[in-house]
Order: sequence, then C-alpha cells, then structure tokens
Amino acid sequence: MKFLVLNGVNLGRTGMREKGVYGADTLESINKGLADFVKAHGHEVDFFQSDLEGELCTKVGQAEDVYDGIVLNAGAFTHYSYAIRDAIAGISVPVVEVHMSNVHAREEFRHKSVLTEVCKGEILGFGKNSYYLALESFWL
Ligand code: DQA
Repeated sequence: MKFLVLNGVNLGRTGMREKGVYGADTLESINKGLADFVKAHGHEVDFFQSDLEGELCTKVGQAEDVYDGIVLNAGAFTHYSYAIRDAIAGISVPVVEVHMSNVHAREEFRHKSVLTEVCKGEILGFGKNSYYLALESFWL
C-alpha cells in the first residue's frame, strides 16, 4: 500500500514551537522515523507539509487513485477549514485525522474538528506516536 502523510499549518515548526505540547522532534525527524516504519512493513509513504489551506486541498484532491490512505494533521485548520473538509469528502481515499496533543484537554476551540465527520477515524494525544498508530491502522 501507498500512503500520504499530510501536515498542515505550523507543523513545519514542530520541534521548535511549544515543545512542551508537541515534543522536541522536528517534523523532518518524525517523518524519517515514519518512513522507516512504513518501509519495514512493506509499504510506501510520501510526505507533504504546507501552511497554505489551498495547497492542502489540492494535495488531497490529487490523492485519488494514487494513495491507499492519508494520515492528516491539519493543525489549526482542523477547527475551521470547510475547504479541507470538502476536499476530503470529495475523494474515496480513506483519511485518518491525527493530532499529537490531546485537543480535548486543551482550549475549547480545539474541541471541535470540522474534519472528523468525513474521516475514517481519528487518533490524538500520543505525540508523534499518533502518526505511527494512524498509519498502522491501515494494515492491522
Ligand atoms: C494539533 C492540534 C491543533 O489544535 C493545533 O492547532 C496544532 C497541532 C496537534 O497535533 O495536536 O497545530 O493538530
């Protein structure tokens, strides 16, 4: 199987911003670990990060017929992007929503995701392991 790990706004600064919340590992090092993990299980993975909502929508739309699954941490877009929601609803590729932090234990505006309803499932609160668990869900 072939997967896409998609990260949204501000996630390119993982390891540099709010380390107490998101950890000290950079997105690059997290992605390296994920690439090894996916490869060890006989699958393929691509990575993409953008701070731009439209770029994420384009990437989601292009995933049709290319990927077997998408792991998406949309960052703050999670809480208000109807555009990303519509992009997900418009493809048949299953999307697993991911958050490193436990958004339900944080500010109220983070409790609502406009994406979950159109995703296959959601994994949150396990730091970088949220990405591993989400990927694993596709082949377990
Ligand atoms: C996040 C949670 C979001 O609320 C926040 O805006 C992020 C990261 C997470 O991984 O915990 O940027 O998606």
